[in-house]
Amino acid sequence: MSDNSIAFEKDRFQKSIDAKQTDLFILKNKNGTHAAISNYGARWINMFVPDKNQNLINVIAGFDTIETYQKPSAAYYGATVGRYANRIADGIFTIDDKKYIVAKNNDINHLHGGHKGFNAVVWDVITIDKNTITLKYVSPDGEEGYPGNLEVFVQYTLTDDNEMVVLFTATTDQVTIINLTNHAYFNLNGRGNINNHSLTINADNYTPVNKNLIPVGNIVPVNDTPFDFRKIKKIGENINTDDPQIKYGNGYDHNFMLNKKDNALSLAASAEGDISKIKMDVLTSEPGLQFYSGNFMDGSNVLTNGTTDDHRTAFCLETQHFPDSPNKENFPTTILKPGDTFKSTTIFRFYY
Ligand code: BGC
Repeated sequence: MSDNSIAFEKDRFQKSIDAKQTDLFILKNKNGTHAAISNYGARWINMFVPDKNQNLINVIAGFDTIETYQKPSAAYYGATVGRYANRIADGIFTIDDKKYIVAKNNDINHLHGGHKGFNAVVWDVITIDKNTITLKYVSPDGEEGYPGNLEVFVQYTLTDDNEMVVLFTATTDQVTIINLTNHAYFNLNGRGNINNHSLTINADNYTPVNKNLIPVGNIVPVNDTPFDFRKIKKIGENINTDDPQIKYGNGYDHNFMLNKKDNALSLAASAEGDISKIKMDVLTSEPGLQFYSGNFMDGSNVLTNGTTDDHRTAFCLETQHFPDSPNKENFPTTILKPGDTFKSTTIFRFYY
């Protein structure tokens, strides 16, 4: 197998941030597949998987220095996002009649944990092995407005089946809300526009949004809409249609309600790079999936492959609970109580 992987220089990820040391950790499996994780934002930096010609392709759109990840325009690339991934309307929610106010960092709404979410903190490395790493962060009571001291663990495991298994667990000492996701940006060709990637999403329904990308609250069939990815289709096929939902997102930026009965691990989505023929299956225990087609990418950052992160040069499949669940009684709950353990598993499986 030819390994075209860029030599990642660890020292570009070694920095002191908030008096804590960041670093880069490489996971490897027996096939020669390898991936890098940084403890800055418990972040997935890259993953090199074989294409049909046995060349290793980096399927993660990311950067080769920590300084880029510190820029607001690159803040969520590959990161562990929390305490509440996605949006909370007006940055307000209520638990047991008590009102909580969190940061409005996305126009009038809260997004991805606030001004300084889990993506922007340095996590402690608890264990590191050849193919697995466990990271921990303790989010103090009141951080970004959220109640309760929350202890969070993220474990990344690169399996010999070319899967990245992402496991989140968390506990709290007060009732709080939680919604964690991995925010990797994928390009299964390794570069270029993603419009010709094909995609299926195992969802009969999705949650339409208002113009600020907050779900309006109803759960709507995808049938006869641009959101029908139940049969394989190109990401770009309906991306420019004259549909109000597509206009609000400037493309796809919507939560799909996955077809499942309980929180069992099940297939959420599959994608394929049209050039590399690399396929990715996403399996999750989560009820929802935010499909974001890289609509706000604007070319302001240089990716590891030397190209810029232009409009739609990557897409995200963020496994999650639904956006604004704390304000929507009909959505699955995101409440975490003391004594309970939040657990969420997502598997990204690559093959050709
Ligand atoms: C959101 C997008 C946002 C992006 C930022 C996605 O999860 O849905 O609206 O621009 O994250 O990385």
